[in-house]
Amino acid sequence: MRIAVPKEILPGERRVALVPESVARLQKSGFEVVVERGAGLAAGFVDQAYEAAGARLVRSAEEALAGAEVVLKVNAPSLADPDETALYGHGQALVALLDPLRNPKLVERLAERGVTAFSLDAIPRITRAQSMDVLSSQATVAGYRAVLIAAARHGKFFPMMMTAAGSIPPAKVFVLGAGVAGLQAIATARRLGAVVEAFDVRLAAREQVESLGGRFVHVDLGESGEGQGGYAKELSEETHRREQELLHEHVKASDVVITTAQVPGKPAPRLVTEAMVRAMQPGSIVVDVAASTGGNCELTKPDEEVEVGGVTVLGPTNLPATMPYHASQMYSRNVAAFLSLIARKDGLAPDFDDEIVKSSCVTHEGKVVFPPLQPAAAKA
Ligand code: NAI
Repeated sequence: MRIAVPKEILPGERRVALVPESVARLQKSGFEVVVERGAGLAAGFVDQAYEAAGARLVRSAEEALAGAEVVLKVNAPSLADPDETALYGHGQALVALLDPLRNPKLVERLAERGVTAFSLDAIPRITRAQSMDVLSSQATVAGYRAVLIAAARHGKFFPMMMTAAGSIPPAKVFVLGAGVAGLQAIATARRLGAVVEAFDVRLAAREQVESLGGRFVHVDLGESGEGQGGYAKELSEETHRREQELLHEHVKASDVVITTAQVPGKPAPRLVTEAMVRAMQPGSIVVDVAASTGGNCELTKPDEEVEVGGVTVLGPTNLPATMPYHASQMYSRNVAAFLSLIARKDGLAPDFDDEIVKSSCVTHEGKVVFPPLQPAAAKA
């Protein structure tokens, strides 16, 4: 069975879906891997490394996809110029981050083309799926990177310093949203010596924050933020306003605020208002890790820097692409683990009775099969 790895074409993307280490494993298991030349270069994986691992290198995405049963990508195929979906053929499988709830047009197009598409971001967060949990691996990179960006930009040290020039107090970092990205941000800021506070609407996050040496900010919202499947739910308008009020003093007192709060399928909750940013000390930094889904800060502009009263608000939308080597390596391992559920060396064999396969399949045999996007579900 042939697996294709085209080069990512999203502007600013530097990751690749499969790294040579995984190519070698798949090759040993009897798969044939075809890689577009230069696909891994921006992530630090040269063509020769793919060749040494047993891949066949080709000149274009078109050539890579021709005759392949499975196409592995990081980003969803683009519908704009060039329309990447035109390269896909009937019965071909695609494995990528499709974000189906935000990309219904793409999902329809893939169904029209007869593609069997699997979205790795729709894999359930169950123990058996941990090795394929792309959301966790990429959020780990994002949380780590966000703190390093803040530390590099800030005019203050993160750790407490006792120097001949006197003592210097540690920086104060406030992390909003203590899911995978938030916890990694806490761990990274702590390793750098900052004093870290964190908040999440899910009370289950308290223990995890504390185990990393952070202080969990307790705010009594009078409503549980726990949603389904371990995720948060969208708060009522009143509770949301109350949350903003209660967070104000903590944001104001922080040198760095890292926001990572998300609610699946919804715009990111607005947690940091302009008034809060204006109340921070000049030189402070806000890194909005939720920028790609609308941002947690009212001032965030995707992939831009906004300065208000000396405070900088950064809204990077693709942090994993800024650390492409390890982001790709982790993605590649996730994707290879997922492949074992849908393919055998003699061909595609998705087991639709498997919860992981069923939940992540978005289109199959010309139809949209992703439950939240099916017409009946939409009407309900
Ligand atoms: P996410 O990216 O959807 O959200 C990030 C964080 O924002 C979450 O912790 C969420 O509670 C928080 N949040 C949402 N609205 C908020 C608000 N208004 N104010 C403050 N915080 C808010 O979540 P992520 O990182 O994908 O993790 C989701 C859950 O899945 C977590 O409980 C995590 O521990 C769990 N998980 C389970 C795994 C498993 O294999 N069992 C693997 C990975 C994650």
